[in-house]
Amino acid sequence: MAIEFERVSHQYVGVDQKGYLAIEDIRLNIRGDGELIALIGETGSGKSTLVQHMNALLQPTQGRMNIFGIKVDNLTKKRKDVKLTPIRKQVGLVFQFPEYQLFEETVEKDIMFGPKNFGASEADAREKAREIINVVGLDESYLSRSPFNLSGGEKKRASIAGILAMEPDVLILDEPTSGLDPLGRNALLEVFNTIHETLNTTVIIITHDMNTVYEYAKRVLVMREGTLVYDGDPLKLFSKKNIDRWNLDKPEVLALAQDIENKFDIHFDTPPRNKTMLKDALKEALK
Ligand SMILES: Nc1ncnc2c1ncn2[C@@H]1O[C@H](COP(=O)(O)OP(=O)(O)OP(=O)(O)O)[C@@H](O)[C@H]1O
Ligand SMILES: [Mg+2]
Repeated sequence: MAIEFERVSHQYVGVDQKGYLAIEDIRLNIRGDGELIALIGETGSGKSTLVQHMNALLQPTQGRMNIFGIKVDNLTKKRKDVKLTPIRKQVGLVFQFPEYQLFEETVEKDIMFGPKNFGASEADAREKAREIINVVGLDESYLSRSPFNLSGGEKKRASIAGILAMEPDVLILDEPTSGLDPLGRNALLEVFNTIHETLNTTVIIITHDMNTVYEYAKRVLVMREGTLVYDGDPLKLFSKKNIDRWNLDKPEVLALAQDIENKFDIHFDTPPRNKTMLKDALKEALK
């Protein structure tokens, strides 16, 4: 098991010392065998808080976790003998707001930071930066630019590049495509999907876009008011009952496929998950 949550809660302590319980009693297993998982839920439901536990950036205020063999609980921070740094390499987290992730003078240095921190030579880290910058859809001219003068979408790409450069075993992306145009969004989703398929990396994507969930995810987690209310198959997630219960947007392709089935007496054996699959399934059905 890569990441195990055992009854994890996290209470933020604010100025008033009263505290705010952001996630509550979470039990969760991430096997680390190359799943692509979507994490969804309303604003404020605890998604970002949950994933910040997965690389021990936040520690439980109650309960415990096991992250690649390292036990993490509310006492971990006080213990001098527990090092959390190896976790940061194994579990790469791209923050929701890239501003919090970018801190070097240039994009190149920013991307090189992770690999160098974990033992790569200067030359290898530089080579890695050159390679990765194209993967996230920026060209090499961005390497010499300051990350602070980039557009929102470019910052997002630069921060993703910095995490990809570390080649984590588990890659967590907190709303990686928010603020990108549709073309850029689809291209990045394909990048994550390719990483998942070719490197067998476990990828966890937080998103509000149900089309993304439906097309890519093999497993979906749903957060609601700090608790994990669903952990399972995307097809079952979009049953009428769940859509009504959790007020979910129905994925466009699913709605279209169901319309076609109802109107034309066609049945799709395997539900198509994107437009190309729908087209192919239709061709097959009309033969
Ligand atoms: N540093 C903090 N101090 C106090 N409360 C916080 C802090 N960070 C988050 N919270 C609160 O915890 C709850 C969960 O926040 P979180 O950021 O995990 O939600 P989210 O599901 O990621 O939302 P969104 O979809 O808007 O990103 C929210 O009610 C938020 O106000
Ligand atoms: Mg969030």
